[in-house]
Amino acid sequence: MSLKTSPGWLKSLKAAFKDGVNKDASAAYFSFANTNSEGKPSVRTVVFRGFICENYPKETDADQMLKTDALLSFTTHLKSNKIAELKKNNNFEISWWFPSVREQYRISGQAHLIVSPEYVKDYPHPTKLVHCETSNPIDWEFQRSKFFSFMSPSLKASFLWPPPGKPVSKDSVFHYEMDESNAEAAKSNFVLVVLEPLKVDVVSLAHRDHRRHLYSLSTGPGISDENAASDWTFQELNP
Ligand SMILES: Cc1cc2nc3c(=O)[nH]c(=O)nc-3n(C[C@H](O)[C@H](O)[C@H](O)COP(=O)(O)O)c2cc1C
Repeated sequence: MSLKTSPGWLKSLKAAFKDGVNKDASAAYFSFANTNSEGKPSVRTVVFRGFICENYPKETDADQMLKTDALLSFTTHLKSNKIAELKKNNNFEISWWFPSVREQYRISGQAHLIVSPEYVKDYPHPTKLVHCETSNPIDWEFQRSKFFSFMSPSLKASFLWPPPGKPVSKDSVFHYEMDESNAEAAKSNFVLVVLEPLKVDVVSLAHRDHRRHLYSLSTGPGISDENAASDWTFQELNP
C-alpha cells in the first residue's frame, strides 16, 4: 500500500493545534467515539499525545521513515472499556474543536492498539497501515516506550490504578507516586492508541460564509490490497 501525497488537511490541523495549545492547553483534548459491545455509541474526552513518527528519522533507522506523519495518538489504560470495544470494532470518529482558529475537525478511520509485548497475542500490533510505507516493520514497542517515557510520574502511576469503570472496592488502591519497583507494572497497562484517518471533515467558522471541506482517502483496487495506490480526494461541501 502506498500513499501518493501528503494529506491536505494535515497542515491546517497542525497549525490549528499549535495555535490552540499556545493559547489554552485544553486545545489538546478531543472527543473520541467508537461503538460499544452492544453496537451503541460510546464517546469520551482524551488527550492528543502527538503525531506518530513525527521524529522517526531522527531517532531510528531512516529506513523506517513513514511517508507521512498523519497518524494521531492518545494513550489509555489496558483495562478500560474502550480497549475491549476497539478489539471488536476498531472504527472510530473524533471531534476536535479549536476555538482560537474557529475550526472543527471530524476525523474518522481505524484505531490500532499498541499494547505491551505480553498482550500482543490478544491485541496484535498493526502490520499494514495506509499511511505507512516502510521497508522494515515499524518497531511499535519502541514507539510505545517513547510515549510512556514522556508521561509525568503521577500520570505513569495512574496506570497502576484498578480497572477504570469498575466499581470501587475496599481493595482499590490509587497510586500517585512511581518508583523503580512498580514502573514495569504501570508500563504493562499502558496502551498507545494509534488513529489512522480515512476521512476528515473540516468546518471553518472563521468567515461569515462558513466553509466545509471533506477529505477522503481513496484507493485503487481495494484498501487491503498491498499494491493499491491511495490518495486523498478533496471536496467542498455546503456548511
Ligand atoms: C480532560 C480529560 C482528559 C482525559 N484524557 C484521557 C486520556 O488521554 N486517556 C484516557 O484513557 N482517558 C482520558 N480521560 C478519561 C476518559 O474521558 C474516560 O472517562 C476514560 O478513558 C474511560 O473511558 P471508557 O470507559 O470509555 O474506556 C480524560 C477525561 C477528561 C475529562
